[in-house]
Amino acid sequence: MDRIRIVGGNKLHGVIPISGAKNAALPLMIASLLTDDTLTLENVPHLADVEQLIRILGNHGADISVNGRRERQGESYARTIHFTSRNIVSTTAPYELVSKMRASFWVIGPLLAREGKARVSLPGGCAIGTRPVDLFIEGLAALGANIEIDGGYVNATAPEGGLTGGRYVFPKVSVGATHVLMMAATLANGTTVIGNAAREPEVADLAKCLNAMGAKISGAGTGTITIEGVRSLSGARHRVLPDRIETGTYAMAVAMTGGDVILEDTDSSLLETALEAIRRTGAEISETNSGIRVVRNGAGIRPVDIVTDPFPGFPTDLQAQFMGLMTKSSGVSHITETIFENRFMHVQELARLGAKISLSGQTAKIEGVGRLKGAPVMATDLRASVSLVIAALAAEGETMVSRVYHLDRGFERLEEKLTRCGAHVERVSD
Ligand code: EPZ
Repeated sequence: MDRIRIVGGNKLHGVIPISGAKNAALPLMIASLLTDDTLTLENVPHLADVEQLIRILGNHGADISVNGRRERQGESYARTIHFTSRNIVSTTAPYELVSKMRASFWVIGPLLAREGKARVSLPGGCAIGTRPVDLFIEGLAALGANIEIDGGYVNATAPEGGLTGGRYVFPKVSVGATHVLMMAATLANGTTVIGNAAREPEVADLAKCLNAMGAKISGAGTGTITIEGVRSLSGARHRVLPDRIETGTYAMAVAMTGGDVILEDTDSSLLETALEAIRRTGAEISETNSGIRVVRNGAGIRPVDIVTDPFPGFPTDLQAQFMGLMTKSSGVSHITETIFENRFMHVQELARLGAKISLSGQTAKIEGVGRLKGAPVMATDLRASVSLVIAALAAEGETMVSRVYHLDRGFERLEEKLTRCGAHVERVSD
């Protein structure tokens, strides 16, 4: 099993190309099941989660061809992928496939809308909390679906004549359930209004693509989304938006090590709250023609408190990385996690590098230390593992991160991107 070896201490200098967003690419790929025409997605990152979803979509009958052309020779490995689901050959998403990645549960929306039925295993994914599916079930029921849970599977059926538009106000913001309800409603009879919808940029990106396919969606990116159902959707070509979590991760890496890096092909408006928090730690962040520049010279890292929240708040997917950064701050900071109840597994691994962190409920208190020291650590989930990388980049000596398959789920060519900026990071295959 691969491990990543990091020797800390180098400042970062150079250019890092930001990939297409994993969390936009996954729902966009799933949306291809809504049409018998071809959906072409550009700027799809090459990640384990994308490969897994390709297998899942293939199981439903999607014909998938990958254009491996490098968009920027030697730098970015984004791919253009064509998805054609002429016929849906199976409306069942089996446990063996769905248990590996929670987002694969989302096929329930398109399958139900297009075929009138779906049998989808209850999901798996990162072990960061209980992550139930009640909001999906209530939302789809508001469109007239009949839903039963049996033997670990969710069985959903649409009434004769298909789903009907409805009104559903989420009692709690859910990105995935917003994606699913929006996709299902595109082919429902009549108009659907979703209240307290997730406002994440990935929801707006999905709506943009669905509209290019002929859907009639307005309000995506705000708390109220209105969808006028249409009879069918066509193919389209869509470019996946930049990965704001990858952008924030590398920005924090520079804030941690010091240096001067341009994050290319990204957009600061996707992560303003996180960038503001990074600025307050002492890094300078400015916009460039094609992305953002992050500089930290000399000055120490200031302690900053954050609380995670749905967009436009501080993203939970950057919480672990920010904690990595705070381990070397010049004072005491507090990080409160409000989205997932078990997203602090990086705490004990950061402690192995010398971090001083104590937990009280959903809040972590981080007492900054003058120096971190390299150690063997274990990746526990996707974002937790990259927080260890950030800390290791500023630790003295060698850190060996094991279980890097977590990193491969969401960070495209991490070691290459960091190495090009002067970091000492290498993959070790046993
Ligand atoms: C998406 O997960 C992201 N995944 C997550 O990123 C991200 O952390 C999360 O949104 C929050 O921003 C993808 O986009 C593929 P939610 P999702 O439904 O949609 C509760 C990463 O590292 N909830 O918005 O699964 C849930 O338990 C991943 O890339 C219910 O109670 O998250 C959580 O507490 C990890 N009932 C909260 O809502 C439900 O039916 C928000 O979860 C559904 C969710």
